[in-house]
Amino acid sequence: MNNELPKIIILLGVPGSGKGTQAKRLCENYGYGHVSTGDLLRALDKDENADPADKEALAAMKAGKLVADDLIYKLAFNEIKKNLEDGKGSVLDGAIRTVVQAQKYQEFFEEIGVADSARTFEIRIADETVMTRLGIRLANEGKQRPDDDPEIMKKRLEQQGNEAVKPIREYYEAKGILTVIDGEPPIDEVTALVNEALK
Ligand code: AP5
Repeated sequence: MNNELPKIIILLGVPGSGKGTQAKRLCENYGYGHVSTGDLLRALDKDENADPADKEALAAMKAGKLVADDLIYKLAFNEIKKNLEDGKGSVLDGAIRTVVQAQKYQEFFEEIGVADSARTFEIRIADETVMTRLGIRLANEGKQRPDDDPEIMKKRLEQQGNEAVKPIREYYEAKGILTVIDGEPPIDEVTALVNEALK
């Protein structure tokens, strides 16, 4: 990959802020590997050979709560290492949801030698926009995920809304690697803001 690009791009944002949408575009446009912990957890849910203890931990996701940290680290760190071995950087899509997780990832980045090549983009939308977007997705695409349910969406927003993102944003702000991206405009405009921030 281009040496000037960061090896790690961390996308923060409330549910429905567009992390997944922008992560896919970053991967297509710049050759990153996509590390979506939500997708990894849903794949685990479908995997008949997965460790039963890991599968039990998925009950939290289905209830709109955060999944145990150790499972997140196991899934995400493995993907980040695989990407590096393939010569690719990683876009972390929702992979960091607490300051405790941010600190653990930081230790891991130091271990694998990418700590100096990380950037964080917070894709920011108002909490009120979340229910509208997720409602539109549900209406257009039907129930695609166990947590695609208006009541569960409210729980996700309670636990993972802007109040929860704030301390993580502050953690990266203090490191001087945070850019806040306005996530309210149409998708292409948000992509343009992300691309601009990467220059
Ligand atoms: P995850 O799958 O990551 O879900 P999420 O964070 O709730 O995010 P979404 O996928 O709903 O939204 P998004 O921000 O990716 O937006 P999207 O691009 O899809 O995680 C699921 C669960 O796994 C969590 O709730 C938790 O239980 C668990 N989990 C995951 N990581 C964890 C961790 N680190 N620790 C503990 N637990 C963890 O867009 C949403 C919709 O809006 C789409 O329809 C899209 O087309 C539309 N849209 C996007 N951008 C725009 C725009 N600019 N304008 C208009 N519409 C837009």
